[in-house]
Amino acid sequence: MNDDPFQDTPDKSNHVTIDRGNVSIKHKLDPVYFDKSKLMKLAHSNESTATPTEEETDVIALENISEHDVEIVKSQIIRQLNGNFENLLKEPTLLEKYEEIRTTFERTVVDKESHSVIILGPRSSGKTSIVTKALNDLEKSHKNEFFPIYLNSCVQVDDKAALREIARQLDVKVKEDDSDYEDDEEEGSAPKKQVSFANFEAKSIHQTFANILSVLYANKYDNEDRMPLIFVIDEFENFAIDNTQTLLYNLLDLSQNSESPICVVGLTTKMTAKESLEKRVNSRFSQRVISLVYENSLESFWNSAKLNLELDKSVIDKLDNRAYGLEWNKHITRLYNKENSLLKKIVLRNYYTVKDHKKLNNECRVPVSKLCPEFPLIRDEYFKLTDQGDGGVQGLIGSLSDLELLLVIASARWIEKYDINSINFNLAYKEYQDMIKDSNIDQSAASTTFLESRFTSNIRVHQKVWSKKVLSNSWGSLYKLGILLDPRNDTTDKRGYNYSHNISKNLIVEENQMVLLDVTLDELNGILYDQHTFKKFVRL
Ligand SMILES: Nc1ncnc2c1ncn2[C@@H]1O[C@H](COP(=O)(O)OP(=O)(O)OP(=O)(O)O)[C@@H](O)[C@H]1O
Ligand SMILES: [Mg+2]
Repeated sequence: MNDDPFQDTPDKSNHVTIDRGNVSIKHKLDPVYFDKSKLMKLAHSNESTATPTEEETDVIALENISEHDVEIVKSQIIRQLNGNFENLLKEPTLLEKYEEIRTTFERTVVDKESHSVIILGPRSSGKTSIVTKALNDLEKSHKNEFFPIYLNSCVQVDDKAALREIARQLDVKVKEDDSDYEDDEEEGSAPKKQVSFANFEAKSIHQTFANILSVLYANKYDNEDRMPLIFVIDEFENFAIDNTQTLLYNLLDLSQNSESPICVVGLTTKMTAKESLEKRVNSRFSQRVISLVYENSLESFWNSAKLNLELDKSVIDKLDNRAYGLEWNKHITRLYNKENSLLKKIVLRNYYTVKDHKKLNNECRVPVSKLCPEFPLIRDEYFKLTDQGDGGVQGLIGSLSDLELLLVIASARWIEKYDINSINFNLAYKEYQDMIKDSNIDQSAASTTFLESRFTSNIRVHQKVWSKKVLSNSWGSLYKLGILLDPRNDTTDKRGYNYSHNISKNLIVEENQMVLLDVTLDELNGILYDQHTFKKFVRL
């Protein structure tokens, strides 16, 4: 069976004629959706009247899709793939967790209670999506009745930066509110009680901190006047690395002792995050952990992944041609179930390797962005681009500079020779030196004849042995690229993110620090093509 429907398109006018004896049916075909076998069935089943089946009606209705509709669908799906997870609540497990979070927030906002909770889950399991969705929904029903403060330990790398960020966000909020009051007064409405805050952000961090605390602990207003604060701390375990854990201590202490309703939500991927809290911090934490887990079957994985690709009824209702929206949803399922479907291949690969919705969404973005009125439905062939994958280590090896590659080869040789599993820079450098020197000697020995050596001695290229200092930079970048791995790090949650992870941390690797090499000599032999200058080095 030909799995590419586009190659089947019979002629430029997109008509196909099916002849069966004296019956001839002429169908105008949608260029995207053309299934010859279905039309044959149609011809066989109802030859005299040739009334279109339900699906056929959809296909026919799909002609002349307006650009407006395509734009709506395209931007909606891209938005969903970008993380605006609007269909979230159709997934029962996520819905349950969402409701739990939302109730907690509501209790803070409506009943003025304080809470603290940890949301624990692997990468791309929907932690941020759930919290954002809950806050957005709450904003609709309780507009201006609470104030969320977002922190992320990857951006605010220490307590000081985090405090400044809290002060900044409070400042912005207070300024907004002040201008609201001014507007109200101008309009002649009854002046509201004006709260005059000082600027939270002060030059000294102590002053900033004192400002924040003084307002939060203050006991000046009645309960009604207190603005509930919701602290969302992404990757919060990094704030627990420092011994004093000042930020977490103060926030959790506030949530217990402050008169203001405060909710502290920590998002983390680390199972051990709660254990890393100091005793006095831990004792102030409510011990509530909401955990998210990956889907444990391919079917449920696809069912949730599909949510990002399908249109919600509310969106379909916005379309001029509703049939297009309905057909879109059916088409997604059809695309997945098709024989040799590339989409399915991508989903399978994702499920069995990283189980990462974010990555899958990325891979679907290009095919969706190619929608146009001529091809209003997503085409399987566009997944070809994303089907190639990122190549992993193999791709990385191809992008290395010569020196970096030589270092990788030297390390792999050393590991192979001495049958060990880790290596440091000093060893790799020694092997590099020997390797280049040996090769230079070999080269001189190879040109044996007198004549040859006379002719070639002037142009013989001796490889330079670079100094340790030069190579140590390359060693550092190999580490950042993730070709060298630190065995002490907990690599399980990085799952292929070494590159971005290490780059963002700007880690330094010591010369004598033992690291693992993510590629073997055998693999290098396979990766380098035969004419490669360094091919000779990958043989011992
Ligand atoms: N269960 C799910 N079903 C479908 N899509 C999901 C699911 N969980 C997450 N996603 C998608 O994955 C993307 C990433 O989700 P999100 O950012 O919420 O994950 P996260 O747990 O916060 O990850 P990280 O630990 O990297 O911050 C979102 O675009 C979302 O649409
Ligand atoms: Mg997140």
